[in-house]
Amino acid sequence: EKGKYKYFMLKEIYEQPKTILDTLRGRLLIPEKIIYIDGIESNKDIFINAKCITIVACGTSWHASLIGEYLLEELTRIRVEVEYASEFRYRNPIVGKKDIVIVISQSGETADTLAALKLAKKKGAFVFGICNVVGSSIARNVDAGAYTHAGPEISVASTKAFTAQITVLVLLALIIGKYRSTINDRCYEFLCKELGSIPGKVDYALKTDDTIKKISQVYHNANHFLYLGRGINFPVALEGALKLKEISYIHAEGYPAAEMKHGPIALVDENMPVFVIATKKGYYNKIIGNIQEIKARKGKIIAIVNEGDIQVNMLADHVIKIPNISEILSPLITVIPLQLFAYQIAYIRGKNVDQPRNLAKSVTVE
Ligand code: M6R
Repeated sequence: EKGKYKYFMLKEIYEQPKTILDTLRGRLLIPEKIIYIDGIESNKDIFINAKCITIVACGTSWHASLIGEYLLEELTRIRVEVEYASEFRYRNPIVGKKDIVIVISQSGETADTLAALKLAKKKGAFVFGICNVVGSSIARNVDAGAYTHAGPEISVASTKAFTAQITVLVLLALIIGKYRSTINDRCYEFLCKELGSIPGKVDYALKTDDTIKKISQVYHNANHFLYLGRGINFPVALEGALKLKEISYIHAEGYPAAEMKHGPIALVDENMPVFVIATKKGYYNKIIGNIQEIKARKGKIIAIVNEGDIQVNMLADHVIKIPNISEILSPLITVIPLQLFAYQIAYIRGKNVDQPRNLAKSVTVE
């Protein structure tokens, strides 16, 4: 039940410290410096020897897949391709006997993802699933997998399933990286510890809600939004834009910040609010340059920054402060204010947050 929350979406956003912890529980053993996932342990050699991994998904799960691409390539040095399930299934994808295909789905019932899974299996690939719903069609059809322990997600807009998917992908990348010796022990141990601190930091990031309510009051009548991020936070920008589109019906686009000058900056004027993920670690100086370009065209900047930030603080129209964390784990924190923002805007606009028009929770037809 919704309890004190007006909508399931808000409840599910607030559940994330717990759902991430549940997804880590029994898998991340910090004192022992061990990560254990049964479906990986029993297929160790396949992961160690992989030449290429293809990740297939739709919607928010596709955004998690893109984050997975950054994580896996960085920590395991295995080449990763990410595909929309609907595209993958209708071409003749190059996957063969020794290849790994990872399918990601909250519901485990998405028709396109299920069809992509079956095609990959037919071609002889080893298919690994990341699903939330236990016993779902996708979970039943994969060769091995790991569940996200996010609990039932009722709201059509996916939130806690997304962060649980990223959590599993981080664990996956860390284990495989350790097997393949593509991460050194120090880095592995450091990231394990950082990962353990995530639930507490998500809890802290949720405290940005009051600031976000105020910012939402300023922009709820805007017709368009841009979301910018770089590196591993580029898919987070895509996810922020998708959340806003889905529940508030405002047109929004996500871009890698440096792509602005190749076209989209033509859209920027005083009526264009621009969300920028500008955390201290990744590409910070580059992002400052991108912010200046937008300011020069009178765009309004809403920046997500780390506590203690000075430079972006001086440039942006609004700042949302989140706790510091390693760049590679940062999507688990940076997405929180974007989820809250989409919710607050939809709420102010009086939309049915949990059941947006034209959308279904699981898309079981193509
Ligand atoms: O259940 P799945 O993860 O396979 O669903 C995929 C998409 O349909 C889903 O993520 C959709 O984009 C959500 N409404 C996003 O909030």
